[in-house]
Amino acid sequence: MASTHGAEVLVASNRGPVSYEVCEDGSLHARRGGGGLVSGLSAIGPEAGAVWVCAALSDADREAVRRFEGGRRLPSEATGGQQVRMLDIDPAVFSDAYNGIANSVLWFVHHMLYQTPLEPAFDKEFRRQWASYEAYNRAFAEALAEEAAEGAAVVVQDYHLTLVPGMLRDFRPDVRIGHFSHTPWAPVDYFRMLPDDIAEQVLRGMLGADRLGFLTQRWADAFTGCCEALVGGLGDTRIGVHGLGADADFLRERSHRADVFERMAALREEIGAAADGGPRRTIVRVDRTELSKNIVRGLLAYRQLLEDRPEWRGRVVHIAFAYPSRQDLAVYREYTAEVRRLAEEINGRYGTPGWTPVLLHVEDDFARSLAAYRIADVALVNPIRDGMNLVAKEVPVVSDSGCALVLSREAGAYAELGEDAVAVNPFDVVGTAAALHEALSMPGAERAERTKRLAAAATALPPAQWFLDQLGELERQGG
Ligand code: G6P
Repeated sequence: MASTHGAEVLVASNRGPVSYEVCEDGSLHARRGGGGLVSGLSAIGPEAGAVWVCAALSDADREAVRRFEGGRRLPSEATGGQQVRMLDIDPAVFSDAYNGIANSVLWFVHHMLYQTPLEPAFDKEFRRQWASYEAYNRAFAEALAEEAAEGAAVVVQDYHLTLVPGMLRDFRPDVRIGHFSHTPWAPVDYFRMLPDDIAEQVLRGMLGADRLGFLTQRWADAFTGCCEALVGGLGDTRIGVHGLGADADFLRERSHRADVFERMAALREEIGAAADGGPRRTIVRVDRTELSKNIVRGLLAYRQLLEDRPEWRGRVVHIAFAYPSRQDLAVYREYTAEVRRLAEEINGRYGTPGWTPVLLHVEDDFARSLAAYRIADVALVNPIRDGMNLVAKEVPVVSDSGCALVLSREAGAYAELGEDAVAVNPFDVVGTAAALHEALSMPGAERAERTKRLAAAATALPPAQWFLDQLGELERQGG
């Protein structure tokens, strides 16, 4: 199946680097995405001719595939330069695979989110959705097999595509296959909640790769533990740890543009001043509203702080940006509603005419996120479990005058940032309230010193190097 004009480097991920909207006049508008993978891939330059295989996520994406593609790649003027093969997978199959399996099962397993007295229940409906997940993975494997040059390097991303390495290995034994997990990996006792045959299929699918990458040693060890317990070990597959860092150059430049200054002024207006005229302290959090981010317990901890330490009333504001994510899933919608309800409750209970204790914003606005990073006194990053958490790494880079970091020990970033952060157990609301108090009370000089060290640790492996390292290792390993 190898094509003579195939690509030497291929990336596969569910969400691609571009998405489309249909405008009122019927034309298509392309939006470029950001993130580590986009900047990582840009490191090898357009002349490398890398091809990115992704799924059409919306009706507008499907429309783009039909209009532009004639079955193959989108023209590069419609993607901002990147070569993209967008897969128009049947919407029902896609929804089963993405919402049903990837986000409602594999995400839950790796982040340990089930309320186990009632869930999961792996019934016939699960089996039906699993068949869609297989079909969706097969569509990726087939497209990659078609697009790859002889001996090409293919890097597959994340829990959506765990079966791709094994399938692609069967189609194309000549190519070198890497897979990278951007999430945690579940410990074996939790992972084996999956039906035995499914657990085995996931592990064997991943082990089809030459090399598997993880964000921290902890997640890599968990994967190895699952393989040892359930499929007799790793076989020939190698494991690597690549702790994706923040993109300092991009963040510093972007956070000093005019729109960020405007947002800073607007935020200062919203925050207001304390009764004595002094500036109010700020506790900032910025998340996509994923169930693992623990926004609700963060608000409970803030409420506890105001309860236990009345001296902070009127002198601190909690800025919480909770951007929409996976709104097709009822449990995400309910979670977002609970975040809103609790923020309102806190404002109702403690707020005064001149002081709003919680400023909650739910519309995604990157410039406003950067503005909040710059002015934050404390950043609250308290996920239940998180592959890395880039917010924890971005804040110290962007902070104007130092920011104390309250960080969950269950975030991957804790491995690199733990020493200079105030550590929390994400389930301990009282402990988190105490950590917020400690962070708010940290002397300015200490905060600035710690922020410097945090920024250095956070930028140790920029996205470009992160990507090149993986590619280099894969190529060294040979196919
Ligand atoms: C989080 C995870 C990534 C994952 C992404 C998918 O950010 O850390 O591992 O790829 O979610 O998000 P999506 O919006 O595409 O469901």
